[in-house]
Amino acid sequence: MNYGHFDDSTREYVITNPMTPWPWINYLGNEDFFSLISNTAGGYAFYRDAKFRRLTRYRYNNVPMDNGGRYFYINDGGTVWSPGWKPVKTVLDHYECRHGLSYTRIAGRKNDLEASVLFFIPLKSWCEVQLLTLKNTGRQPKRFKLFSFVEWCLWNADDDQNNLQRNLSTGEVEIDGSTLFHKTEYKDRRDHYAFYHVNAPVQGYDTDRESFAGLYNELSGPQAVLEGQPRNSCAHGWSPIASHCLEIELAPGQARELIFILGYVENAGEQKWESANVINKTNAQALISRFDTPEKARVAFNGLRSYWDGLLNRFVLKSGDEKLDRMVNIWNQYQCMVTFNMSRSASCFEVGIGRGMGFRDSNQDLIGFVHLVPDRARQRIIDIASTQFEDGGAYHQYQPLTKRGNDAIGGNFNDDPLWLILSATEYLKETGDFGILDEMVPFDHDETRAKPLFDHLKASFYHVVNNLGPHGLPLIGRADWNDCLNLNCFSTNPDESFQTTENRTGKTAESVMIAGLFVVYGREFARLCRLTGRQQESNTAEMHVSQMVETVKQYGWDGEWYLRAYDFFGRKVGSRENDEGKIFIESQGWCAMAEIGKENGMVEKALDAVKERLDCEHGIVLNNPAFTKYMIEYGEISTYPPGYKENAGIFCHNNPWIMIGETMIGRGERAWEYYRKICPSYLEDISELHKTEPYVYAQMIAGKDAHKPGEAKNSWLTGTAAWNYYAVTRYILGIRPDYDGLLIDPCIPAAWEGYEITRRLRDTTYHIRVSNPHGVSKGVMQVLVDGEEINGNLIPYSPGNVFTVEVTMGIMAPVLAH
Ligand code: GLC
Ligand code: GLC
Repeated sequence: MNYGHFDDSTREYVITNPMTPWPWINYLGNEDFFSLISNTAGGYAFYRDAKFRRLTRYRYNNVPMDNGGRYFYINDGGTVWSPGWKPVKTVLDHYECRHGLSYTRIAGRKNDLEASVLFFIPLKSWCEVQLLTLKNTGRQPKRFKLFSFVEWCLWNADDDQNNLQRNLSTGEVEIDGSTLFHKTEYKDRRDHYAFYHVNAPVQGYDTDRESFAGLYNELSGPQAVLEGQPRNSCAHGWSPIASHCLEIELAPGQARELIFILGYVENAGEQKWESANVINKTNAQALISRFDTPEKARVAFNGLRSYWDGLLNRFVLKSGDEKLDRMVNIWNQYQCMVTFNMSRSASCFEVGIGRGMGFRDSNQDLIGFVHLVPDRARQRIIDIASTQFEDGGAYHQYQPLTKRGNDAIGGNFNDDPLWLILSATEYLKETGDFGILDEMVPFDHDETRAKPLFDHLKASFYHVVNNLGPHGLPLIGRADWNDCLNLNCFSTNPDESFQTTENRTGKTAESVMIAGLFVVYGREFARLCRLTGRQQESNTAEMHVSQMVETVKQYGWDGEWYLRAYDFFGRKVGSRENDEGKIFIESQGWCAMAEIGKENGMVEKALDAVKERLDCEHGIVLNNPAFTKYMIEYGEISTYPPGYKENAGIFCHNNPWIMIGETMIGRGERAWEYYRKICPSYLEDISELHKTEPYVYAQMIAGKDAHKPGEAKNSWLTGTAAWNYYAVTRYILGIRPDYDGLLIDPCIPAAWEGYEITRRLRDTTYHIRVSNPHGVSKGVMQVLVDGEEINGNLIPYSPGNVFTVEVTMGIMAPVLAH
């Protein structure tokens, strides 16, 4: 069943039924100020940090779902309704929500009155603009009451929910005509306040929730709205809100536009006050005056649209398959930008108070947006590397506001360091900016211990070399990429987190996944050394990598697939010898990408085992058989019911590793089949089962062992976005930036006839047409650049031009073994 449809011409997803199987959300904002907005206008706004600078309240996992938002109420002759359906839930004559790129437009119609709201955050502005259009579509004049509503969060979203003994007494507001200010704690240590403004005189207002709603009413029927009468309340403590009331008259056919602005202002010490206890509103007024007419708002909105046009023009695919095109050209890139902005902080599954920016997550996210915002990617790399330790290890996360690392969600995840080599080398290939390697970057934020970025990469590499276990494989530490494979934890206490508990020494449990990862990024490191004239360094690195390859062949192979790990006791994990968890996806993916034992058919065998044991209708599960009982020596993985999350769920993040692995051995059909299976635009028709948004990836889809296979959870903030984008563009469509040129190396289903791609790289634009006249999956026969044949399939860079590239696939296709 569908709840809407894609509109590719406007790059929107159009929701036509407000009762989606889960709130289907969107993100506003691109730099400092952000909002989440659901298809019923639920969500909240924050400045930079969803925990410490939350502007408005939201109630997660509530009844009903999705509570708290920027709500408009209309009381039209006693009929009360909201254009986004919620919170009133009056049945509308028409409803539509269009989620676009950094904006959402929600429109409702009831009894010949139309209300449409465009929500967006203008570029470089600390405010959410809401352009509300009201139109009388009937034959009779209309006179009705309009109420706006937001509920303030007392800034620290965590404290706001639990420190009630204090917080119910601290709330403070100021009322100034059509602008309602929230200034809790401004008097003392805060130098920021928020406001909600409308560009018209109001009939009245409310700033105290209880006065507005009534203590025992729900937000679906606030007393003031039902009576059509604002209370003009002034909040002192309790729960401050901001609600405007306007009385509006519209002749038949007449429309009226109003601008609401939800803003955030910072004032430095001396500038804080206008007079005793009266806040200095200069900055607020300046902000308001930038957007307070429909014309100004539209100019700002067009600026936002141009911004996205500019970004998305950098990679444009025409494949003839609209589902593929819309993912590659629009939604997958958009999701990558959102993960760049949000990391894992705020979604319908991440409450914005728990996790900061992950070291491993942020490095991986980068490969999905480095082509869009290379400068910001550069800064991100520096920020991440600044939280690294001198021995190459890393804090598992850092806070966006302070950029400081912390171990609140654990440390010693031994895969962490290697992801920095991934992000840095991808950045270099995209930009050619080798200068970044010389940039002085502190260790653990200590400027006195700053070293060139190159030294950080080296530290990453040697962190693995210096932490090998009994078999010569990398020690796993707290866990590797799989947060839930906790081989040193041994927890019996339900009150402790698996990620922060380490009860054993950690000197025995080893990870074959990190081994594969090390071979891939160790080679990258060695190559980088070579390219930058560090030949000796390169040779030594190569030596360590070759050693690891041999070690995996000797101790990491189970006969038909790669082992996953050795546990604390030195026993095999992910082996046919195990009763459950005989095979895991991660080591198959990384060892296949590393091509370990490819010459002996190991890669092919392992990938065949994945097909046979892990693949199912909805994607590739993480492990098989699923764990049915708690295994203390494995940790959190065995706490999940079978088929969910890390216990045999379909982790969409790691499916692309298998796709890429398949392209290594030329199996384009399989790579494509795996891609399509989890790609949201292909799942639109099963939205009822899939549950989460059909325009973005979810972290997890319930696997074959689950109670409800195919049901997704945790949409938006997941490395899935970056990895799927990377797999499809770089390895399936095969357009891969490299240090000296653009590599063309597709691996596609043999039946594909071809496709076109425009790829902007550095200063150059390539118009590439790939044709496949001989029906092969892999192999490039000829590449013509502006009509001239080049040698091989690497187009050397030559800056500042537009090139037309004709690629013909054929002959070199490897003979596939069956
Ligand atoms: C979550 C985490 C990520 C981890 C993955 C597997 O997505 O954000 O860091 O690798 O789970 O456990
Ligand atoms: C849980 C989740 C995992 C996530 C981790 C974050 O273990 O299962 O996906 O990465 O929490 O700490």
